[in-house]
Amino acid sequence: MARPLTATIDLNAILQNYRYAKKLQPTCKAFAVVKSNAYGHGAIEVAQHLDDEVDAFAVAAIEEAIALRDSNVTSSVMMLEGVFEADEWALCEQHGFWAAIENDIQLEWLFASKAKIEKIFVKLDTGMRRLGVDKDGAQVLVEKLKASGQVDEVLLMTHFACADDLSDITTMEQLTYFERTRHAIGGIEASVANSAAIMKWSVPEGGWIRPGIMLYGISPFAELTGQQLGLVPAMTLSSKVISVRSLKEGDKVGYGLSYVATEGHQLATVAVGYGDGYPRHAQGGTPLKINGMPAVLAGRVSMDMITVKLANSDQQLEIGQEVVLWGEGVPVEEVADFASTIGYELVTRMTSRPHYCYQTLHEIK
Ligand SMILES: Cc1ncc(COP(=O)(O)O)c(C=O)c1O
Repeated sequence: MARPLTATIDLNAILQNYRYAKKLQPTCKAFAVVKSNAYGHGAIEVAQHLDDEVDAFAVAAIEEAIALRDSNVTSSVMMLEGVFEADEWALCEQHGFWAAIENDIQLEWLFASKAKIEKIFVKLDTGMRRLGVDKDGAQVLVEKLKASGQVDEVLLMTHFACADDLSDITTMEQLTYFERTRHAIGGIEASVANSAAIMKWSVPEGGWIRPGIMLYGISPFAELTGQQLGLVPAMTLSSKVISVRSLKEGDKVGYGLSYVATEGHQLATVAVGYGDGYPRHAQGGTPLKINGMPAVLAGRVSMDMITVKLANSDQQLEIGQEVVLWGEGVPVEEVADFASTIGYELVTRMTSRPHYCYQTLHEIK
């Protein structure tokens, strides 16, 4: 016997979502962004499943890139934030990693290392003010990299601040600045688009797109779920009812006794909690399903357990019933909304405690 909490990951769903991203931007090559443990889905398992298909993977840091190589992943891997220390360039050469460059220190370390790198992405700050250089800085970086003879191809990249908000003109302003810079430099490939931009904005033809959250079937937009966007959710977090009791009007439940029954009803205790990654701030009313029946959170989330009630009091609760916390039939985006966060955070903050079960459930189109 084991605790019943399981994250079932459908690897074919991720493959299908990758293909969908490429279909939306057919002139582009696509990174599969697998940073942060593939947004909580398991970077090794995801990368091994996608290895024969992807144009390249993208990660945040060299540790994540090396972990892929150590698991026999052979596709190219790009480090989205570049190197953090000088000696990483030698490792990039050794493993064939590509990297972003966003400052002079990273450049000096590259020259000092004499490492030969296949592709470097110069990061242009088009308005997000997080990483990157301005137009003149980008021109200088590109010229120096090209003159160094250490790099086979230099590309220009940027990242959008507001692509998830379709009414915000910032994305168009960032794109205009990007394209102006790219044309001033001349003859250089682009990489601009995250999931939101791939799905809803017009991005430069050719070059590299960088789908992350959409690979996992989750929407980057507040008002839409992944399924509504034509994506296939990849993770279902499920557990079981481990205890059932009857409450009468006025009975109080859980830490702080914050839930008070306004009428008599059954209450189920389910094996999942914030120690697993279920959000502690999820409010009463957060949706879930028990044996396919709509149910809601009632009371505070504990480390290992939650307490829930059925939406329809004519139905019966029993120990052992299957509970879906998110995934199949319960959009993670809706759960996130009840916890004042986004789907990205819920899946990425999953801990190692649930059982992870990898399947290829989805038939690939
Ligand atoms: C530089 C960069 N590119 C692409 C992505 C993927 O973004 P998304 O998950 O919204 O598709 C990220 C994610 O944070 C990123 O930092």
